[in-house]
Amino acid sequence: MKLELANQIINNPRYVRLTGALDYIEKDRIFCRHDMEHFLNVARIAVILCNERGIEADADVIYSAALLHDIGRIAEYTSGTPHDEAGISIAGEILAQTECSEAKKAEILRLVASHRKADAHRSELETVFYLADKKSRSCFCCAAREQCNWPEYKRNYEIGV
Ligand SMILES: [Fe+2]
Repeated sequence: MKLELANQIINNPRYVRLTGALDYIEKDRIFCRHDMEHFLNVARIAVILCNERGIEADADVIYSAALLHDIGRIAEYTSGTPHDEAGISIAGEILAQTECSEAKKAEILRLVASHRKADAHRSELETVFYLADKKSRSCFCCAAREQCNWPEYKRNYEIGV
């Protein structure tokens, strides 16, 4: 599996700075964190789901979207802008500093934009990516689940995809 774009993203100075800042902001967070473990879990689960469902998708697009999908979190903490909205512009700026084609960039930004919305009008890949974001969480063993504001339909109580 070739992940050229994803590897450009993890080495992008702005991406490194933003994810480092996010790790720092969330260091005492009792709820799910938005860290590299989460990003890679989302990517791996999405790739598994695509394989299981026979969805043809570019793994580099999936990994790149997973790396970027929560990048707007800092803006949400500091200005209140929803992180999917803030993430679109930040992800676009980071992708502009890579060798990403316009077609791939559009696909990645669609995944970033739609990862929070349980909307019936979405592509198969967007559906899988949305599910992977939820299934990456271990609500079944979370010590903070009583205080968590996630609605039941988003919570993950099972192992498996
Ligand atoms: Fe996420």
